[in-house]
Amino acid sequence: MPDTNNKPKSENIVWHDGQITPDDRAKVLGHQGCTLWLTGLSGSGKSTVAVALEHALIEQGHLAYRLDGDNVRHGLNANLGFSAQDRQENIRRIGEVAKLFADAGVITISSFISPYQSDRDQVRKIHEDAGLKFLEVFINTPIEVCESRDPKGLYKKARAGEIKGFTGIDDPYETPSNPEIDLKTDELSPQQAADQLIKALVTHRILNQSNSQ
Ligand code: ADX
Repeated sequence: MPDTNNKPKSENIVWHDGQITPDDRAKVLGHQGCTLWLTGLSGSGKSTVAVALEHALIEQGHLAYRLDGDNVRHGLNANLGFSAQDRQENIRRIGEVAKLFADAGVITISSFISPYQSDRDQVRKIHEDAGLKFLEVFINTPIEVCESRDPKGLYKKARAGEIKGFTGIDDPYETPSNPEIDLKTDELSPQQAADQLIKALVTHRILNQSNSQ
């Protein structure tokens, strides 16, 4: 079914349905497609957890794929910066991509700061409208910890005024109001975080208990 939120610019565009449903694909793959939407500050551990989770899922024979903020900004979203408008468009596009992957049956792991609740809610909506599962995962790491890690040296630059509008310093981050999963990465190893997410995939019936050892 078409997504009614994103109306085509032209009126002369007609949706064409296929014959295959997400359940048909789930039978082939042995799991449901879904999106795990990791949100949190820069340096919170989103990408590290996503890498560990993707690895664990593939090892168990599941089709998983990461969509990563820095990587996507090298390609599809190379023309976007960090204004509120560009961040919104960044999340809109990647939300649509994640939805396509989830529809294709992939366990899709996205890691974007995605600082605004309304943008995350919109991505949730397009998934749920399409009958696809969406789990919001808060990578809940205090800013002091993110800043002390500073893996890319960007907090230092932001404090020095060399980067303007840096999330958590002089740009907002809206804490998720009702995430399905809240991960405190300063208390968990990446493997422990991945294990918790795999348990959540079982709880939400995306994976079966028997095929998630
Ligand atoms: S989002 O806000 O639009 O969701 P996204 O996840 O794609 O951000 O990209 C964040 C990454 O871009 C950060 O991890 C950091 O490496 C880099 N970055 C560069 N400038 C900024 C900025 N002003 N605010 C936040 N991150 C920035």
